[in-house]
Amino acid sequence: MDKAIVLAAGKGTRMKSKLAKVLQPLNGKGMIQYVVDALAGAGITEQIIVVGHQQEQVRQHLGETVKYAVQSEQLGTGHAVMMAQKEIDPNEDGLVLVVCGDTPLLRGETIAGLIAAHQQRGAAATILTCDFAEPTGYGRIIRDEQGQVKAIVEEKDAGENEKRIKEINTGTYCFHSKALWGALAQIKPVNAQGEYYLTDVIQILGRNLAKVGAHKIDRVEETMGINNKVQLAEAAKVLRHRKLVSLMEEGVTIVDPDSTFIEDEVKIGVDTVIYPFTWIGGETVIGEDCFIGPNTKVKSVIMGNRVTIDQSTVFNSRLGNDCTVGPYAYLRPGTVLADKVKVGDFVELKKSQVGMGSKIPHLSYIGDSFIGAGVNIGAGTITCNYDGVKKYNTRIEDGAFVGSNTNLVAPVVVGKGALIGAGSTITKDIPPNTLAIARSKQINLKKNVEKRGKEE
Ligand code: UD1
Ligand code: CA
Repeated sequence: MDKAIVLAAGKGTRMKSKLAKVLQPLNGKGMIQYVVDALAGAGITEQIIVVGHQQEQVRQHLGETVKYAVQSEQLGTGHAVMMAQKEIDPNEDGLVLVVCGDTPLLRGETIAGLIAAHQQRGAAATILTCDFAEPTGYGRIIRDEQGQVKAIVEEKDAGENEKRIKEINTGTYCFHSKALWGALAQIKPVNAQGEYYLTDVIQILGRNLAKVGAHKIDRVEETMGINNKVQLAEAAKVLRHRKLVSLMEEGVTIVDPDSTFIEDEVKIGVDTVIYPFTWIGGETVIGEDCFIGPNTKVKSVIMGNRVTIDQSTVFNSRLGNDCTVGPYAYLRPGTVLADKVKVGDFVELKKSQVGMGSKIPHLSYIGDSFIGAGVNIGAGTITCNYDGVKKYNTRIEDGAFVGSNTNLVAPVVVGKGALIGAGSTITKDIPPNTLAIARSKQINLKKNVEKRGKEE
């Protein structure tokens, strides 16, 4: 079985963050998750992650889907691979890929291409390389007159001529496992950094006349290593673009990709239209033929088909088919809308269920409530769900009609088909099919109103 070793023990000092470098979020996913997913995409499911700095965070993030090897002291990339060796049966004769945990733009196809090139040549080692206009900082690929790969020389160990070489080591390799272990046993920390360089394996294999090659790609962006937050933002931009392209290829209409942000895990059905200045994230699933945006934020929402959300914020909620939300609505966690529900302008919903076809068209706060089917909530209705200590529930049953500017002091039940007069403050349950009015009576006084303001 082919395996991969992912190097992720380094400190990532330049990130200047409390969060481990390889867990920095990139369009909704931790950096290393992209590497793990790309390897899985290339068919490499058995992965050993070499952890060290902030290893608890990394283990917690990736869980039991991968194996771990600990490198307690960061003595170099070669040393890191040695730590992973314990996790691999020495008699096994497959391929071993080595990838860095901080190259999230590397794609599954590229890894598959590297493996194919390696197998085709029957090589002992194949390096993924790339020509860089600005190669400073990277290991350079040294070739002989015939173009055969001979060695990798690190920037800090390179002479003037070597520094002029544009072909660099991306840090991704495919090895024949026995060749790797044999050569790795021979590397020594004799170099400018006093580290065990994995890259020394190439020269050792070459000296022993093993076949060593390079698989050069021209997609420079894929090889980008992320070391600081500037590069993090650059990588996020690339990943966002990839996500938008894949959605468009699947039939989603993105009106303006430049002003649309959709995180990696989001799923969207065909013919849904996403308008500008919209951010969609978390584990959101959007159905077909929806209209989302403009100016909308949606996070971890499951919604059906033909839903419209206009200039609104919706979090951790579920929306059925044919719902309309907004403009300027705020659906907070625990909102569940059945089919054909209308939530209009300046409406806030929290931890509330709304039945089929019910309408909350304007200026309302509904919290901790159950609303049945076919209910109409008048403008300005407020559920008074909090007494400063505890939260209480409101229940409004099917077909009830709540007049405008009603206060529903919870806990309270509005029975089926009940009618509430506008401006009521309801403090007692209302039986089914009953009219409730709870407001002070109007009195009309005959006074000289027309004289108002004219007196001395
Ligand atoms: C390495 C390569 C260089 C290549 C570059 C590509 C070596 C000696 N050099 O250099 O040729 O051009 O990557 O980006 O391999 N790590 C550990 N344990 C360690 C040291 C590193 O796990 O003891 C991990 C780091 O967390 C990182 C990866 O290995 O994910 C690469 O290490 P880094 O120090 O960034 O290597 P470079 O100096 O960039
Ligand atoms: Ca580095």
